[in-house]
Amino acid sequence: MNHEKTIDYDKVSRVYDNVRIGDPEMIHQILRDTNLNQDSLVLDLGCGTGNNTILFAEATQAIVVGIDISYGMLEKANEKTKMIPFVQAPADGLPFPEKIFHFVFMTEVIHHLPTPLSAIEDIFRVLKPGGSLCIVTQSHKQIDDRMTSRFFPASASVDKERYPDIDMIEEFLNNAGFNGVNPKTYQFRPTKLGEDYLQTVETRGYSMLHKITQEDYERGLRDLKMAFSRGEKLTYSAGYTFVWATKI
Ligand SMILES: C[S@@+](CC[C@H](N)C(=O)[O-])C[C@H]1O[C@@H](n2cnc3c(N)ncnc32)[C@H](O)[C@@H]1O
Repeated sequence: MNHEKTIDYDKVSRVYDNVRIGDPEMIHQILRDTNLNQDSLVLDLGCGTGNNTILFAEATQAIVVGIDISYGMLEKANEKTKMIPFVQAPADGLPFPEKIFHFVFMTEVIHHLPTPLSAIEDIFRVLKPGGSLCIVTQSHKQIDDRMTSRFFPASASVDKERYPDIDMIEEFLNNAGFNGVNPKTYQFRPTKLGEDYLQTVETRGYSMLHKITQEDYERGLRDLKMAFSRGEKLTYSAGYTFVWATKI
């Protein structure tokens, strides 16, 4: 198995929560399409620092387990709660017996996986018959719609290489044996971008800004600062795609 990581999440874990928080509305949307109770076992795959794992566990009676490849990310998750078991393992080597989970979700993880099909096959193995999977990601269109893509177009090209587009994810799911593969678009409520957005860009808090040339970065930062100083109202509303699938 190839577990080479393009981003060192043990390092990123020190600053991750400065730029990413959990999304209660997204968790609410996921839960609307699930049917869980106190006997349900749920896996948050690639749970990171546990932001969405904790929101999910708080919003349902199900038993939630988080798994991630990075010890650094899991250390942060463990500092936040002792109520959720956090397990270190790669997505394509889940340390669980077959057919035990009712539901698996992963938010902003698929583009990091070196072998997405093997991971999806392993998720299929650990799901109970009737269980479902929800992959939260961004389509290539949604990547183009990001505000960061407007100022740093090269960052969109970088991310479109990293992110499998939705049709490819659908193909992985079908090949792994899933049924009812169904992508749904989830639109963010437009958020006004302010000083904190500028600060994140200035510190290259978004990982794809490390992957563009210095020239492209400086040009984008200059244009972004000019847009702010002109008083232009910048909003973020790119949204996510939830790709649902069921194991029959
Ligand atoms: C962008 S973060 C998303 C974290 C979390 N799901 C969230 O929404 O905040 C991506 C996470 O995927 C994890 N990851 C990357 N490759 C992985 C792999 N092969 N197996 C399991 N987790 C992996 C990283 O360590 C990181 O925590």
